[in-house]
Amino acid sequence: MPYPFKLPELGYPYEALEPHIDAKTMEIHHQKHHGAYVNNLNAALEKYPYLHGAEVEVLLRHLAALPADIQTAVRNNGGGHLNHSLFWELLTPGGAKEPVGELKKAIDEQLGGFAALKEKLTQAAMARFGSGWAWLVKDPFGKLHVISTPNQDNPVMEGFTPIVGIDVWEHAYYLKYQNRRADYLQAIWNVLNWDKAEAFFRKG
Ligand SMILES: [Fe+2]
Repeated sequence: MPYPFKLPELGYPYEALEPHIDAKTMEIHHQKHHGAYVNNLNAALEKYPYLHGAEVEVLLRHLAALPADIQTAVRNNGGGHLNHSLFWELLTPGGAKEPVGELKKAIDEQLGGFAALKEKLTQAAMARFGSGWAWLVKDPFGKLHVISTPNQDNPVMEGFTPIVGIDVWEHAYYLKYQNRRADYLQAIWNVLNWDKAEAFFRKG
C-alpha cells in the first residue's frame, strides 16, 4: 500500500515469540522503531504528491530519481518500513521450522542445505559492523545469495528479492541479550517461519 504508509498490524501478540524474543522488545520494536520509520517516511513524501501512488519497493529501487532533499529520508525510513514489514511476517508464529518446498530444493542445490545456510547467514549477521541486516535473497535469474546490508538498506535496492531477513540492530535484541548478538542469532531460528519464506521465494 502506498502513501500514507501505515504501521502494519503484527497479527500476533507481542509475547508470542517468548522466550526467544521477549514481549517488551517486540512492543518497542514494532510501535516505536517501526512506527517512527512510517511517520518519517510519510513526512518526507508529504510535499511531493506525484510520489504518493508509489509502493515503497518502487521508491527504494529508484532512489536516484527522487528529489535530492528526500533521498536519504526515503532510503532510511522507507527501508526501515519495508524491512520491518517483512520481518514481522517472517516471525509469524507457527509454520515450518525449516525450509520447505521449492525453497528447500533451491537451498539444498545451491547452498548445500539448511545447516550450511544457517552458518552463512549467522556469519553475515555477525560480520555486519554496527547496525544492519543479514539476508537470504534471490537474484532475477533465480540464484540464491546470502548478503548483508548496512543501516536500513533493503536488497531490492540492489535488484534482489528478499526471502529471509534478520534484523541485527541492537534494538532487535538488546533488552534480552544485551551485547550478545550471537545468542540472539542462535535463538532466531526457533521463530523463523519458513512457510512465509517459501511464499516470498515463490512470489519474487
Ligand atoms: Fe529493527
